Amino acid sequence: MRIDIITVLPELIKSPFEASILKRAIEADLVEVHFHNLRDYTIDNYKSVDDYQFGGGAGMVMLIEPIDKCISSLQEERNYDEIIYMTPDGERLNQSIANQISLKENIIILCGHYKGVDQRVRDKFITREISIGDYVLSGGELGAAVLCDAVIRLIPGVLGNETSALTDSFQDNLLAPPIYTRPRDYKGMKVPEVLFSGNFGEIEKWREEQAYKRTQERRPDLLND
Ligand code: ADE
Repeated sequence: MRIDIITVLPELIKSPFEASILKRAIEADLVEVHFHNLRDYTIDNYKSVDDYQFGGGAGMVMLIEPIDKCISSLQEERNYDEIIYMTPDGERLNQSIANQISLKENIIILCGHYKGVDQRVRDKFITREISIGDYVLSGGELGAAVLCDAVIRLIPGVLGNETSALTDSFQDNLLAPPIYTRPRDYKGMKVPEVLFSGNFGEIEKWREEQAYKRTQERRPDLLND
């Protein structure tokens, strides 16, 4: 998979890719991530990436020209399956969307800033608009990092234990069950006995029950999806 990230603040988004699982995925060539500074595609001496909005109103709007230049130059090199715009008014990211995107070969992620991009960018280029939650961030970079993390960990081979992404919360619309490790008894707080039974059928049943109970208590909305 190849991910091209278009941003006015590359320094804000690079670090999550320089540690832990994302770093290893890149080093193992399971994913390629490229950053493109929108200022490198500007068309004036001031390297403008934004301007006042027509009709008046507070906040700047990202210009179409540099974005068009950047996306078009990428498209000359390869086909993109998806051109994603990070915006609070997009569809809210969930596991199902992460699963879908993890199956794509080449994607572009455009990070919004200021009030957002000129609507014509969205009309002409964008195939999918994604929000990471119902709150407004200063820009799309942190959202893009969240999306990339959720997607990259699903690429086969990225996680050491192939099954561990499959048993994450949300993969089956249930939250994950409680988990325990040593010590078996910590200051009187005991690990449930069933986990020592050696009966994997019983253990699996217990985990399913716990996952269901936790989902019903915390996120009943997931059970209705
Ligand atoms: N940009 C600003 N707020 C955002 C959000 N909630 N999700 C994605 N991109 C954003």
